[in-house]
Amino acid sequence: MLVNKKIVLGITGGIAAYKAAELTRVLVKAGAQVRVIMTKSAMEFITPLTMQTLSQGPVYTDMFAPAGEFDMAHISLADFADAFLIAPATGNIIGKLASGIADDLLTTTLMAQNKPTLVCPAMNDKMLANPVVQDNIKKLRQYGYEVMESAVGELACKTSGAGRLPDIPVIIDALESLLTPKDYEGEEVLVTAGPTQEPLDPVRYITNLSSGKMGYALATAARHRGASVTLISGPCAMPAPPGVKIINVRTALEMHEAVMKNFTKATVIVKAAAVADYRPESVSEEKIKKSKGLAGIRLVPNPDIIAEIGAKKTRGILVGFAMETQELLANARLKLARKKMDMIVANSLREEGAGFGTDTNIVTIIDSNGKEIRLDKMTKSQVAHRILDHVKTLKKKKGPAKRK
Ligand code: CTP
Repeated sequence: MLVNKKIVLGITGGIAAYKAAELTRVLVKAGAQVRVIMTKSAMEFITPLTMQTLSQGPVYTDMFAPAGEFDMAHISLADFADAFLIAPATGNIIGKLASGIADDLLTTTLMAQNKPTLVCPAMNDKMLANPVVQDNIKKLRQYGYEVMESAVGELACKTSGAGRLPDIPVIIDALESLLTPKDYEGEEVLVTAGPTQEPLDPVRYITNLSSGKMGYALATAARHRGASVTLISGPCAMPAPPGVKIINVRTALEMHEAVMKNFTKATVIVKAAAVADYRPESVSEEKIKKSKGLAGIRLVPNPDIIAEIGAKKTRGILVGFAMETQELLANARLKLARKKMDMIVANSLREEGAGFGTDTNIVTIIDSNGKEIRLDKMTKSQVAHRILDHVKTLKKKKGPAKRK
């Protein structure tokens, strides 16, 4: 999402200014082109040289500097930017923006632009709680700025409370969302993700290698596009994506119950979870002792969740996944028809850069009209957007979603 995006990062003078260095590194790594404007106070906390090195571009600090990369930097930077990011934003810059003060390069540039702008406040908790600052934040939101909530925790001034700069992944997520067109507004998207765990006793279970990355990428992409998203997740190591309603489950039976409770209002259902097909017939209350011996484990089938929805649904889009080690497309086509899906995303465990745990995937999208789209290797986030693009095409053909 940030690939080739032009981001102008404004850094103001608070102790969190040092975090702008890491933020810039992450933005550049994500493919963004970053230009930095620093206020005079910001340079007391971090040097332009650091920012120049990390952003791989010039750093702007002076309204009246001789022309460099850009003539009239305040106008040119405003034209250049796809988005502005103010991190950290002090109470002072928030006050100036709210009152229309333009007395340095950053405030003048911000006055001269109308691009999406993300403001990340960071200051002492009492400063943040000050009614004037709160009023100014409200005003900025009314003027169309996206102002993030500060994080809560330990502050540099040895107190604890609200006022920390939001964590970098949370800022990146908010920026991606700001840059994403909202073509899923009004949609209710239900995503399942991750593996399930089928317990044998209090310490042992049967599971699979699913990391949940594909499902989490789908939930995030749908939310960035404006959907209201419910994510039903098996045990995964990742934090819940911001802004998504998450329901954590462990077993296939728990996932089944959660999906059955939530699927009726969904207009799009994406079943990315790797649900265990079988579970132990009984779960021992006590740890199974080696000394007692184990003759075998009797397994019973779990409900096929997507097949149950496929049998019930009337309209709306049902998307499944097929992870195969052989006969990828043939097996995927069979699953698509057997489980009455509208679309299946086939990926092979045999291809380098695809499958469990990787950050990339190589998939073929197959829909119930027989259309097949083979996608090159791309990030799971890019795959997620391509899946959602195709869901939209199918929705147009089917008309508005209606479910029993
Ligand atoms: N699925 C499900 N409930 C199950 C098993 C699978 O909802 N109990 C869904 C998965 O979320 C996925 C699709 O069905 O979207 C295909 O999953 P897969 O495991 O590939 O299919 P199976 O029917 O279990 O076939 P097999 O394991 O024999 O390949």
